[in-house]
Amino acid sequence: MDYPRTVRVTDTVRESSRHVTLSFEDAATARYEPGQFVMVWVPGVDEVPMALWGGAKGRLKILVEAKGDCTKALADKKVGDLVGIRGPYGKPFLLRGRRILIVVGGTGTSPLVPFCERARGKADIDVVIGGRSKEFVLLRKAYEAAGARVHVSTDDGSEGFHGRAPDLANALMDKVRYDDVLTCGPERMMRAVVDECTRRGVPCQASVERWMKCAVGICDACLVDGIRLCRDGPVLPKEVLVRLEDFGRFEREPSGVRRALH
Ligand SMILES: Cc1cc2nc3c(=O)[nH]c(=O)nc-3n(C[C@H](O)[C@H](O)[C@H](O)COP(=O)(O)OP(=O)(O)OC[C@H]3O[C@@H](n4cnc5c(N)ncnc54)[C@H](O)[C@@H]3O)c2cc1C
Ligand code: FES
Repeated sequence: MDYPRTVRVTDTVRESSRHVTLSFEDAATARYEPGQFVMVWVPGVDEVPMALWGGAKGRLKILVEAKGDCTKALADKKVGDLVGIRGPYGKPFLLRGRRILIVVGGTGTSPLVPFCERARGKADIDVVIGGRSKEFVLLRKAYEAAGARVHVSTDDGSEGFHGRAPDLANALMDKVRYDDVLTCGPERMMRAVVDECTRRGVPCQASVERWMKCAVGICDACLVDGIRLCRDGPVLPKEVLVRLEDFGRFEREPSGVRRALH
């Protein structure tokens, strides 16, 4: 098992009232692939999984949503503060084809930014960024800078398409035959995207979040239908996702108890 490397926060950017991007430098993490994650240790609080983005000039980034003890402690970090990092871990998103649709929302918005950066010149990419309202449409400029075409949906209609991200994605799929669809964000959103891709016979990849502890495949905290998400995922192809009984329907409490997704 890896031990955390101590890194210093080099920059912080507030992305919304709940979201902050932290930057840090770490040579071992810099080799990451889009969709991989690190375990971030806040001494005295907890160690939690976070997807990676950034990387230009060695400046790696995590987009943090402040929701519980550890993510609130991370969101409060200042330039110069120290955190522990181990990883990167897991299977990344793969570039499979030239016409790509990406559907993202919430903290799931970040891992596909580096995918677009690295696919630049090799693929033509439409990105649907969904948010509850305009304030929660995250990282639009980063996608535009990576050369992707951005389409926005908001649940309350405060910006772009009035409705859910999968509905906007369906409207795009009616017009364009995509080679692959990549999705990351709330699990119900991803389930709707995967189901639509199944109906249309379009390939799809999605990143599935579950409780993670060891992150190296030994504790079984992240086990879903025989798949260890930290090692065999978090990014899975449609063929595997449709076999997961829990995907889009159930999550696990820290104790392992299964409960319906809300
Ligand atoms: C592969 C992966 C990538 C992730 N990437 C990001 C990211 O880029 N940005 C981000 O803000 N969040 C990300 N998360 C979710 C993040 O890890 C949890 O929100 C965080 O662990 C919450 O911890 P907390 O102490 O703040 O909240 P808590 O109150 O302890 O937990 C709130 C909820 O977060 C989830 N959670 C808590 N601990 C864990 C854990 N060890 N593993 C998985 N889920 C947990 C549970 O659903 C829990 O109900 C990712 C999760 C996974 C599995
Ligand atoms: S987190 Fe331990 S096996 Fe996946």
